[in-house]
Amino acid sequence: MRDLKNVFPEKNILPDGVVLDKPIEQREYLINGEILQWQGDFQQVFSPVYFGNDTQGAYIGSYPLMDARESLKALEAAVQAYDHGRGEWPTMSVEKRIHCVKKFVVMMQEQRELIIRLLMWEIGKNLKDSEKEFDRTVVYINDTIESLKNLDRDSSRFTFAQNIMGQIRRAPLGVVLCMGPFNYPLNETFTTLIPALIMGNTIIFKPPKLGVLLHYPLLKAFRQAFPRGVVNTVYGDGQVVVGPLMESGKIDVLAFIGSSRVADILKKQHPKPHRLKCVLGLEAKNPGIVLHDADIEETVKECVTGALSFNGQRCTALKIIFVHRKIAKPFCDRLSEEVEKLAVGMPWDEGVHITPLPEANKSEYFAELINDAITHGAKVINPNGGIYNKSCFFPAVLYDVNDKMRIYREEQFGPVVPVICYDDIEEPINYVINSNYGQQASIFGKDADQIAKLIDTLVNQVSRINLNSQCQRGPDTFPFTGRKDSAEGTLSVSDALRVFSIRALVAAKENDLNKTIIREIIKDDKSAFLTTDFIL
Ligand code: G3H
Repeated sequence: MRDLKNVFPEKNILPDGVVLDKPIEQREYLINGEILQWQGDFQQVFSPVYFGNDTQGAYIGSYPLMDARESLKALEAAVQAYDHGRGEWPTMSVEKRIHCVKKFVVMMQEQRELIIRLLMWEIGKNLKDSEKEFDRTVVYINDTIESLKNLDRDSSRFTFAQNIMGQIRRAPLGVVLCMGPFNYPLNETFTTLIPALIMGNTIIFKPPKLGVLLHYPLLKAFRQAFPRGVVNTVYGDGQVVVGPLMESGKIDVLAFIGSSRVADILKKQHPKPHRLKCVLGLEAKNPGIVLHDADIEETVKECVTGALSFNGQRCTALKIIFVHRKIAKPFCDRLSEEVEKLAVGMPWDEGVHITPLPEANKSEYFAELINDAITHGAKVINPNGGIYNKSCFFPAVLYDVNDKMRIYREEQFGPVVPVICYDDIEEPINYVINSNYGQQASIFGKDADQIAKLIDTLVNQVSRINLNSQCQRGPDTFPFTGRKDSAEGTLSVSDALRVFSIRALVAAKENDLNKTIIREIIKDDKSAFLTTDFIL
């Protein structure tokens, strides 16, 4: 392992293509199709990357700390653009909306390099994963366009039943407040924002607390690609700028990826809870269950990536591992060896796995979790586990964890890997049953009979079971959701289009008068909704 004492670079030795020419001093925000200049306070942004012995992360820029008044202006713009469903955007044909989104993607791709660089500096994501996040988002948008074309093609025909003819389509819901998480600030924000937008809703977009500046290069693209008021941006302290939006009762959909604590606060702020639709991606404590006959090498490989990709800062990360007593020793030995091999460094370093953590005081929090576990009988089994220097924390494998420890229940969201030895398969099953979370689980083993039984038990507890592989969201065409406190609503390329819209239909008795009216509307293209136009 690289010596953590010297993990941070000197400012003058940064490689080409990494340096930010100058800090990003964002003054602008987008409301009602205009890029405005903020005159109030600004939030300074410091990277999780430090220079040399500095006591604060590198200064990388600032963004507006907007106030409630300005935030409500963004809301008014979105409400006006929607205009009770009569605005230009919600009534625009699907084909034209697709055209706007395509224009946006082209402009977005022009900013690829800068956005990737900002992902590294703002949240410490390594180069490979930052590139993946950007490219995956572009693919997601393009797939969304294709999926909407198919949905629209299916809806362009009439349905006949019981002497009634109908045309069934999907209609928008209204004003959507989109808020993504810091760990996938671009990708997860856009997996709600783009489907919400393309279905005809208008948007208020508030970036996460960490990972704000990387959205700045897209401000102009939002302005140029979409009609006035369709996308509006809000920056600042959540309590100041988001509270008033929710309290107004004018938010129709809350698309939020973050903690259930914050989601609960936001939902309660809305005066008409039954009129608020929520699309939420929340915490998880996904278990890996290693059966007695698991292939140790393959399982260790999956557990290391599953628990420690992006330093374990994934909602889908394996956050607790149950291993059968019969193979606990060889499994833990190999796990510890493989974790020790992980390269620590700066996000742009070749082959780096462990990078600086963006959240304040996170290393101290993990040290606390580890101390608590040690107090209750666990050991850090890898030699360098838990060593840290400022924001850089070397992963710790904790063994043998029990229910007295905080790590047993708390979602660590970082590089601590708790392992529990079990004798009876009922132990991990009961853990899942009693957990507040229900996103995914991984089963590692070979015996089809035992695996089948476990699948049938777990499938009613979590939303995805992974066989001999880590938990993950992708492929993005697969449904992504969770039970209990882990999620509300289902996302995937096609599901998201449904979640941000409602089925609406025109129905008429099959008589001559109605047939004549419908024929005339269709022939002369009189309606955007009632049409048999087919997107080619
Ligand atoms: O943070 C949660 C993400 O949705 C995880 O996505 O499994 O593709 O890393 P991923």
